[in-house]
Amino acid sequence: MSAVEVVTRTVQLESPDETHRLGVRLGGLLESGDFVGLVGDLGAGKTHLVRGVAEGARVPRSEVASPTFAIVYPYSGRIPLYHADLYRLTGYDDLYATGFMDLVGGEGAVLVEWLDRVPEAAPREYLRVTLSHAGGEARRLVAEAFGARPSALLAAWLP
Ligand SMILES: Nc1ncnc2c1ncn2[C@@H]1O[C@H](COP(=O)(O)OP(=O)(O)O)[C@@H](O)[C@H]1O
Ligand SMILES: [Mg+2]
Repeated sequence: MSAVEVVTRTVQLESPDETHRLGVRLGGLLESGDFVGLVGDLGAGKTHLVRGVAEGARVPRSEVASPTFAIVYPYSGRIPLYHADLYRLTGYDDLYATGFMDLVGGEGAVLVEWLDRVPEAAPREYLRVTLSHAGGEARRLVAEAFGARPSALLAAWLP
């Protein structure tokens, strides 16, 4: 099996607005089959970024939730978006039971907060976005693309 191509980008986000705008841009680029894993502490801005992505994918604002209690929220925009939060899951068996795995690689794009809780949820090729606090309203965003399509997506998102 050939090695998976890896591309990395780091950006500093100085305000919630900047994070939102970056999300909007990603939302305009996502295609069916894309998988974005979001990692970072509570309050790092994962959900905030996803709201931007949803706007960029033309999901009606009223549809966008903060998926604290549900595992997966389906949104209908330019393409279907599935927004999941794995915070409360204890492992892969839990996730499997939700039917989540059927969404991966299907019609629509998948955005998963707390991917590090269940790393096995990630497909072989995906975009990983790690957000961390960088003082006040500043955040550091590290994006790592694993595979050809995620790398192309990342190059278009953060040139
Ligand atoms: N640069 C920034 N990017 C994103 N969110 C920020 C930023 N600065 C402050 N915030 C605030 O931090 C919080 C992030 O919350 P949220 O997106 O729910 O985090 P998470 O989903 O990672 O737990 C929001 O209240 C947001 O307004
Ligand atoms: Mg969140």
